[in-house]
Parts: sequence; C-alpha cells; structure tokens
Amino acid sequence: MSDPLAQPLPLPCGVVLGNRLCKAAMTEGLGDSRLRATAKLDQLYGAWSDGGASLLLTGNVVIDHRVLERPGNVAIDPGFAPSVDATARARLRAWASAGTRAGNQLWMQVSHAGRQSPRYVTRRPVGPSDVQLDLMGNYARPRALREDEILGLVRRFAQVAVIARDCGFTGVQVHGAHGYLLSSFLSPVTNRRSDAWGGSLENRARFLLETVRAVRKAVGNDFPVSVKLNSDDFRKGGFSHVDCLGVVGMLNGAGVDLLEISGGNYEQPRLLGLSGRADDAVEVRASTQVREAYFLDYAAAIRRVATMPLMVTGGFRSREGMESALAGGDTDMLGIARPFCTHPDVARQLLAREIDTLPAYEHRLHLRPRGRLSPASPWLAAKMINVLGAQGWYYQQMARLADGRHFDPRRGVMRSFARYWWDDLSRAAALKR
Ligand SMILES: Cc1cc2nc3c(=O)[nH]c(=O)nc-3n(C[C@H](O)[C@H](O)[C@H](O)COP(=O)(O)O)c2cc1C
Repeated sequence: MSDPLAQPLPLPCGVVLGNRLCKAAMTEGLGDSRLRATAKLDQLYGAWSDGGASLLLTGNVVIDHRVLERPGNVAIDPGFAPSVDATARARLRAWASAGTRAGNQLWMQVSHAGRQSPRYVTRRPVGPSDVQLDLMGNYARPRALREDEILGLVRRFAQVAVIARDCGFTGVQVHGAHGYLLSSFLSPVTNRRSDAWGGSLENRARFLLETVRAVRKAVGNDFPVSVKLNSDDFRKGGFSHVDCLGVVGMLNGAGVDLLEISGGNYEQPRLLGLSGRADDAVEVRASTQVREAYFLDYAAAIRRVATMPLMVTGGFRSREGMESALAGGDTDMLGIARPFCTHPDVARQLLAREIDTLPAYEHRLHLRPRGRLSPASPWLAAKMINVLGAQGWYYQQMARLADGRHFDPRRGVMRSFARYWWDDLSRAAALKR
C-alpha cells in the first residue's frame, strides 16, 4: 500500500509539494547584529533540506527593524539599509540556496511582531490600539498605527515577498497568527479601532486581506503564497473560531496556496499545547484534548469553508495520528516543529519507516500549586520557568545544529531558562540599528 505521508500535493499556483511533511516555522535567533542572515542559517537549513520534508518554513522574518519578535531575528526592512543592501541579499541567497539543496520548497515566513516585541528590543511597539501585553512587565505599551502607516506596511509585506522570491526562496508565508501584528488586528481584545480597520470582522480582517492580496499581486500567480491563521485565540472576547471561519471565507478568493492552522498567542500559548492565565482562557474542546494534534477538530470545520489546501500544525507525534488526520480529510499537510530541533532528518526517518513515533522531550520543574496564588508564588515562577525554559531548550538545540553539532538531551530546564535570558539580553545589547 502506498504511504499516505509520501503522496505529492499539487498547490493552486502549480507547484507540487513532494510529500505531506512540513517543518513548521521556528524563530531561529541566528541573525547578526545588523539583522542579516548568517552562515549558521545555511548550516541549519542545509541539514533540514536534507531531512526529507517537502516544505520548510523559515521562522519569523520581520519587516520592521525596530519591532523585532526577538533579538536575532532576520529583518528585511527597506527603511533600514543594512537589511536590504547587497551584502544582506547575498546572505539571503546563500540561506535560500542551502535550504533548497535537496529540491524541497523553502518558504519565508514574513511577519511584523506588533505589540509582542519585548521591552529590551523596543520601548515603542505598535499595534492596532494601545492595548499593552501584560506579561512579566516585559512588553511596553504599543502605539496605535495611523492609517497611512498601515497602508505602508501592506506595501512593505509585498516588497519583502518580492525580495524573498528574488533571493531564491521558493514561496512566502504571511504570518497572521499567534498575536503578532496582523493577528492582533483580528482580535477585538487588542483591536479597539473605530475606523475602517476595526470593529466588524470584515474591518478587523482588512489588514490581513489587503496584505495577502498585495503579496499575491507582487509575486505573480505561479509563486506559492501561504497564510498562517489561528483557529481560535482561546482568549475571552478574542478572535474566536467563528471569526476564523469568517476570515477563511474571505481568504478563499485571495490566491492562498496553503492555509496553515494554529492557535493561541503569548497570553494563551495553545500553539505549544500549553495553557495561559485561567481567568482569560477559552477552554479547548474536550474532543481536541484527547487527540494528539491540537487543532484538528477546528480544522474539520475550517475544511468545510476553505477552498484552498490546508495544513494543521501542532502536536503531531505519531504515524498513526498523522495518517488518520490525512485519511479523515481534515488536513492535506502535516506541520511539525519541535522534533526537527533535535532530529533534523525526522521526516526522512518517517518516510523510510525507520520510526513510527517522533522524539518528544519533557522539560519541567514539578511543583504543585498550594493555597492562594500570588504573583510571587513559587508555582507561578515554576510555570514561567517551564514555558521559557522549554522554549530556550529548543532555541539552544537549534543553535547546536546550526554549529554542526548534535543536540544535547541532557540539558536541563533551569540551564535553558538562564541561557534564554543571557542570549536574548546580550543579543539585544549588541544590536546596531
Ligand atoms: C522554538 C520555537 C520557535 C517557534 N517560532 C515560530 C515562528 O517563528 N513562527 C511561527 O509561526 N510559529 C513558531 N513556533 C510555533 C511552531 O511553528 C508550531 O506551531 C508549534 O511548535 C507546534 O508544533 P509542534 O507541536 O510540532 O512543535 C515556534 C515554536 C517553537 C517551539
């Protein structure tokens, strides 16, 4: 019987993906102090290209040099010459060349961090409205964008997509998920505008829609354009699943080749299968909790509306789970992220039937909540260490692969947490912008 994971997938633009496995976007933190790509990215993406997935998505490549998702981002900002000059473009070409060397697709995830840019990167983040992200005091109050600035950013998304194409990336993805700028416009919690960019769902989705249309127009009809969208923000009063279905309907006519389904944001990190503040949370469906992939149930409803191919990302760890997701028809592609940080050829191993289960690691300090929780409660501190320590753990394993080394399974969560801050703060201090 032919392997369902190995089946090709034709996209509306005419490009055919060679199999159903995608390495999903993971922010690498491997840019230099002038926000340019480095040889470390070539090494990392060379390994991933050889690793068997038909599609690699880069981590956030940001379009505003002042508002980074994290220090170490690669930026492409025509307003910051070092990020678009001949040297910067040569480095992008080297990255694209390494990341496509096995004949796979490599799509650049084009993004604006919006209000989710840490204080040590910018004291002046931007957003739809001045609604501040309340997380350890680490995010400054954003300034609401003016309409002319929004229109300028729509044009910039398109310009950056053209630069990506011209430098050898074989497609682009517009990041409309996880609470970054486009996603924050979608949510009534963060978008309090009363002009044409806020209020009704159509208005809240205008920035995303205009961006996707501008990108499509700029890159032409035969170049893959993807969108990453939340199935739900999982925040009270936020972008809901019903809103998501409405936006998918609007995207149907916009020339999208692959719609990637995720969910959550910094307050509710459901994209990683984690929960955030209980007072703010919308519960995930019980049927979803028993399935290994976090957003498959939501994808089933999205499938009924969407006319473009779908990819669900988050939680896939077994061949059985992946095959049943494809057979159920709720997704066409399988987005997988964390297992690629430790085993860059995990897709090849799956396709060769060397493994049936993907590697998974647990990074935890185990403390039970006791009594009343104050902000200084050790349990809350442990939760923070667990979330950021785990995130750091994956960053640091990617950095090892980028140095041509193997991953280190013995690294503990405390060490990863400390190293996370050390790396972020020292990189932020070194930025030359
Ligand atoms: C270290 C790390 C970095 C990430 N960076 C990004 C990113 O830059 N852009 C994005 O859309 N998602 C990002 N994600 C989310 C992943 O794309 C994916 O949605 C999530 O990890 C769930 O998939 P998994 O369970 O297979 O890991 C990141 C996840 C991790 C663990």
